[in-house]
Amino acid sequence: MDNLILIGFMGAGKTTVGKLLAQEKGLHFVDTDDRIAAEQKQSIPDIFSEYGEPYFRDLETDLLRRMQEDTRHSVISVGGGMPVREENQRLLRALGCVIYLTAEKETILGRVKSDGSRPMLNGEDLEQRVERLMRERENSYRRTAHLCIRTDGRNIYQVAQIIRQETRRIRGI
Ligand code: S3P
Repeated sequence: MDNLILIGFMGAGKTTVGKLLAQEKGLHFVDTDDRIAAEQKQSIPDIFSEYGEPYFRDLETDLLRRMQEDTRHSVISVGGGMPVREENQRLLRALGCVIYLTAEKETILGRVKSDGSRPMLNGEDLEQRVERLMRERENSYRRTAHLCIRTDGRNIYQVAQIIRQETRRIRGI
């Protein structure tokens, strides 16, 4: 399986690093949120507000099942909540080499804004929300990942370079 899958919290850099990595390695780039929004013909915030989070989570699992068949030679950036479901953890690992992009809470807060584009961060007290979600998800991310890479203090070129080195080392890809 030659996919590289980037997981991690919102603002960890999955999409920006993923696009760069795909370009450098001559792979396709897939963003699970973009695919869901295109298939549903609706933005992620609209799906959340119209149908709620559980419905969105079912769409994620459904997509992940189909990706086992239709996604190859790709860097895949995965929505921040996808690795929480146990079934998704298994499906993600079966799909390719899973890389957890880690970041400290302060780094995340510097990168995300409560701007309506991320429904999980809407509402009161962004810092508390981020802290709680990060704590709740940490084990899921670690369980799912083959590799963990720290992004604090590193730009996207440095993170992409470390991913290339590490994946070559562990998988020869
Ligand atoms: C979510 C993260 C988002 C998107 C949705 C829910 C989450 O993706 O899937 O808003 O639960 O962490 P990004 O991690 O790409 O922001």
